[in-house]
Formats: sequence, C-alpha cells, structure tokens
Amino acid sequence: MTFKKNILCIGGGYVGGSTMAMIAHKCPHYKVTVVDINPTRIAEWNSNNLPIYEPGLDKIVISTRGKNLFFTTDIERGIKEAEIIFVSVNTPVKTFGAGAGMAADLQYWEKTARQILECSESSKIIVEKSTFPVRTAFAMERILSLNENNIHFDVLSNPEFLAEGTAIKDLEYPDRVLIGSRETPSGVKARNELIEIYANWVPKDRIITSNIWSSELSKLVANAFLAQRISSINSFTAFCEKSEADINEVARAIGMDSRLGDKFLNPSIGWGGSCFKKDIFNLVYLCRHYGLDEVANYWEAVVNINEYQKERFVRTMLSAMFNTLAGKKICLFGFAFKANTGDTRESPAIFIATKLIDERAELVITDPKALNNARIDLNGINGTVSYSEDPYEAADGCDAIAVVTEWEVYKDLDFKKIFQSMVKPAFIFDGRNILNHKQLFDIGFNVFPIGKPALTHF
Ligand SMILES: NC(=O)c1ccc[n+]([C@@H]2O[C@H](COP(=O)([O-])OP(=O)(O)OC[C@H]3O[C@@H](n4cnc5c(N)ncnc54)[C@H](O)[C@@H]3O)[C@@H](O)[C@H]2O)c1
Repeated sequence: MTFKKNILCIGGGYVGGSTMAMIAHKCPHYKVTVVDINPTRIAEWNSNNLPIYEPGLDKIVISTRGKNLFFTTDIERGIKEAEIIFVSVNTPVKTFGAGAGMAADLQYWEKTARQILECSESSKIIVEKSTFPVRTAFAMERILSLNENNIHFDVLSNPEFLAEGTAIKDLEYPDRVLIGSRETPSGVKARNELIEIYANWVPKDRIITSNIWSSELSKLVANAFLAQRISSINSFTAFCEKSEADINEVARAIGMDSRLGDKFLNPSIGWGGSCFKKDIFNLVYLCRHYGLDEVANYWEAVVNINEYQKERFVRTMLSAMFNTLAGKKICLFGFAFKANTGDTRESPAIFIATKLIDERAELVITDPKALNNARIDLNGINGTVSYSEDPYEAADGCDAIAVVTEWEVYKDLDFKKIFQSMVKPAFIFDGRNILNHKQLFDIGFNVFPIGKPALTHF
C-alpha cells in the first residue's frame, strides 16, 4: 500500500506511543512509525503487553499495528523515510552541573536533533511534541541549519496536553490542538501540513495557531496553572483541619462560581506525575534567567505547598498513631500518581513510603496497575516492604491504611471484612477523600480525611 505521507515519532513513551496510535487510528492514509532507543520498550509496543497502561490504548494499537502503525528501533531509516518528524523524547530535570534540580536536561533532545541532521536526505518538518523550555525551537533550527546538503527543516511547536489516565479521550476529543510556527511562507506551509493531519478528526475551530514561543510557553503555563490550582485547594486543607471547616464543602461552594469552575478542586496528598514539577522548575529557572525573581518565587511556591502537603500527611499519621510507627504495619492503597495509570513518576506515594520506612514502619503496597513500577521505585530501600495486588490481603494484619491513589476500586471494598483483619485500634488515612468516612467510623476505624475533622474513637 502507498501512503500519503510518512510520519515518524522519535521517542515511544507515554506521549509518543499514545499520540501516534491516535494519528494512525484516525488517518489510515498516513504511515506512522514510532522509534525509540530503548529496544525493550519497542518490543513491548510490538507485544500484547504494552509498556504503558492507558484505558483504551491497547484497542487502537492492536487495530492499527502492522497496518499503518509501526514500532522499531531503526531510527536512521525512520528519519530518512519521514516527511514529518515528531520529537517526543523525555525532558527530565537536569541532575548535574549548572541548573541542576531546576533546568531541563536537554541531552536527549540535542542528540535527536543531531541524529535528524545526520540521517536526513530530504527536507522535513520537525514537530516539537515534548515539553521544551521556551526558545528550544530556535536552538533546534540552529542545529538543523548546519547541514550542507541544501536540506530545509521547518520547526513547529505542537505541545501535548493529554493527561495520563484519560489520554485516549483527550487525544480523540482535545480541548484544543496548539501549533506554533514561524510566519514565513515555508513556516506557514509546514503549519498547514500539520493542521491537515489533525483536521482528520479535530474540529477546525479547536486547532489554534500562534508564534512558536507562545506555543512553547503555553504548555509550561498550562501545567503551572493546573498544579497551582491543586496546591491552592490543598493549602486550605491545613486551614480546614485547624478551623473545623470542611474542605469538600468549601470546594463545592467555590466551584459553583462560574468564574472558577469545579475542576481540579479535589483535596489530596498532593500532585505528582512526570510533568508538573519539572515544568514549573523549568519555568522558574527561565524566570530567574531573565532576572524575574518575583515571578520565579511566585511559581516556586506552588511546588513548595505540594511538598508541605506530602510532609503534613505523614506527620498526621505519626501523631495520630501515638507518635511512633516503629514496627507498625501500614498498607498503602495505591502507588500510581493518579488513578487509571501505572505511572509512578513523582508519585506522592514514593515520598510517603520513604518517610514511613524512615519511621521504621513496615509497608504493604497494593495497586491495580503500578506494582511493577513501585518495586522499581523502592528497590534497595532500607526497610520491609511487601506487595500484593489484592487489597484485602494487603490490609490483613496492618495497623493502618493510607489511601494514596484515588482508584475507584477502593470505594467499593468490604471495609467490615478489612477492619476485622486489622490490628486494633485500626486507622484509615484517606489521602484522597474518596471513602465514606462516617461509615468507616461506624465500623470502628479511626478516620483521618484531608481537610476535615478526624473521626476517632478515643
Ligand atoms: N506523560 C505525560 O502525561 C505528558 C503529557 C504531555 C507532555 N509530556 C511531555 O512529553 C515528553 C515525553 O514524555 P513521556 O511521558 O512520553 O516520556 P517517556 O520517558 O515515557 O518517553 C520518552 C521516550 O523517549 C525515548 N528517547 C529518549 N532519547 C531518545 C533518542 N535520542 N532517540 C529515540 N528515543 C529516545 C526514551 O527511551 C523514552 O522511551 C516530555 O517532554 C513530557 O514533558 C508528557
């Protein structure tokens, strides 16, 4: 079969794999190839056991794989054949040198740019899909312009706004698709080619365009606002616990204000995931670079509140359980950073587990999708940790349960049965406020929600 265009995606992770599967699904006339330096990842994409869990993803991968969706480690060939190349490599926080702990580590990105330069035999459109610092496209253009073969590259910014756990829905019905380009004739032509792909399923009025720097910045700003909103509601959980106000009642009251809206107002132990913290730090680093210290401090506070919230949760556990956790068995309900994903990157669970181990508690971890990642995250930790897929088995013989991830399955458990199998007094710390606290209290639990008065039997 001959295809209208060859699309390549460099980086087959959460974003590259999911977005390319959606493009292949919606555009059978395009050949979509995903390449990655990690052969295990590619082998998993080609197997029945995909490397990531995302509701609905396996269905579209299975229906397109081998037809117009291909996964391979042959990056050189992929680059040669492609007319449009998406770059979706990881952009973690730098752990060394200048900007360590703050700036984006651009080594994967630069390696990719140089490889594109080296392997290209014809002109191409390069699409920044990863979240990059503002003005990365400029650096990309500079590197790509080093070629001596008269090959022309147009660089576009097309940040991805999908959320893990709802990625397939977000990709199928995006709030918007943003494309940043140069306003030169070839920049506009490249932009139109990308619009043509999305127009196969996204309504035209949802495909918006801007200059490249606005596009790059919009992604960082979107994540900063989302994280800020969670940090804002979480900052008032501490206030509620002091004043006997109820955070869920407050969230409902303010969420009905149409200017504010009711999304992202769920109180919790804090946000996680691979993006929010690194993107805010990236923004903070850029602000400092431009001498905008007040702006940097403002956004840095969003991260600080998140750290505070996680620490507060562990402190509450410690003080509720008579100021000692040594030798006590604590069950974590959930380890993923949010429900409906197996991803544990920057999950609050890692911080909480580590702190509880520091207190010499014994941990039992249960999660429907994230146990493999949990094992990797806690590998080598100096303490006793065990894992079970079955929440009943996990809670058996424990002193306390801490709800860390808001999986639906935890709402419908038989808590009477669980209570009977636990050491008394039995504690539940609901880090997501998803359980029926009054019912748990009536069963006999001492219940500690977030941002509401505790219900205790002593
Ligand atoms: N995960 C999300 O929810 C999400 C959402 C929106 C945007 N983003 C952004 O998208 C980007 C990718 O995120 P992710 O979660 O998919 O990361 P990921 O770590 O899951 O995937 C990145 C992949 O790139 C591969 N890679 C790295 N260097 C490579 C190279 N030189 N050649 C080929 N492959 C290479 C890695 O092996 C890895 O499989 C990041 O910038 C992230 O901020 C992520």
